[in-house]
Amino acid sequence: MSAICFDNVVKRFGNFTALDGVSFNVEQGDFFALLGPNGAGKTTLISILGGLTQSSAGAISVMGHDVAGDYRAARRAVGIVPQELVFDPFFTVRETLTFQSGYFGLKNNDAWIDEILENLGLTEKANTNMRALSGGMKRRVMVAQALVHRPPVIVLDEPTAGVDVELRQTLWAFIRRLNADGHTIVLTTHYLEEAEELCNRIAMLKQGKLIALEEKTALMNRGKARSLTLRLRPAELPDALRPLLVAECDGNFELKLAEPDALTDILVAIKSAGISVRDIEVAKPDLEDIFVDMMRNVPRGA
Ligand SMILES: Nc1ncnc2c1ncn2[C@@H]1O[C@H](COP(=O)(O)OP(=O)(O)O)[C@@H](O)[C@H]1O
Ligand SMILES: [Mg+2]
Repeated sequence: MSAICFDNVVKRFGNFTALDGVSFNVEQGDFFALLGPNGAGKTTLISILGGLTQSSAGAISVMGHDVAGDYRAARRAVGIVPQELVFDPFFTVRETLTFQSGYFGLKNNDAWIDEILENLGLTEKANTNMRALSGGMKRRVMVAQALVHRPPVIVLDEPTAGVDVELRQTLWAFIRRLNADGHTIVLTTHYLEEAEELCNRIAMLKQGKLIALEEKTALMNRGKARSLTLRLRPAELPDALRPLLVAECDGNFELKLAEPDALTDILVAIKSAGISVRDIEVAKPDLEDIFVDMMRNVPRGA
């Protein structure tokens, strides 16, 4: 059983289509990144998953429970950290979490609440009113609130947008531990280096459509090939290497390096043409390069 199944999910707002037939599965134990530019439909997809919005067509299930037909069980299986901060300003942090436990019918949840508070650096704020917390602290409470009922699936919608480095690190250490303990994690983020560092699978949404879904390693290998920049003396590229030329600037030749092993052939061709290599640099694309490339190359309406 997959942790989450998105099956041909469509969402229309009037005659605007925010989600245009999105299908993919998140497997149990995944640390899954859902990427996409603003307006791609990430938050809408998560709202339907959490039962806050209804889809226009299609279905979503969490741990085998349909989010529409089996709402209570589906809701119990997932903890969602929303993109927007929503809280009651008159509750303390602990009251907020106790109240949330009650919503799920959990009594005597204090030991787990204490553990969450501790792991999110909130222990000292436990009795502070929500309205008196900084934005970063409120964000931590949103995370705590999503974890109160120990959901097997945890979804974080841009949890680190605008938060300080310390919170990011605290949060990731904790979320990594939860993932290692068997929780499935879904994350949307604008910080691609976070997805690159943390996640094992990556999906990309653009204009309401899924344009990529791959193992991170496969995605990264599939992106732009590595590039090789050579400074040559004399500044001449042997004819045999012309087909690989990407750019030429001030005697530097940038060549496409389809696979690392092609390097030997390139160097042999240069040496046998009597040319010497003065400098060499190999660059590997990161997720950001790949992302930008894909977002640019997918035609509108594809
Ligand atoms: N309640 C709504 N009414 C009308 N349009 C909406 C509503 N919610 C979202 N949208 C539109 O749907 C699209 C997807 O939004 P959203 O899911 O928030 O994207 P993301 O989270 O990827 O930035 C956007 O164009 C947004 O303006
Ligand atoms: Mg969003």
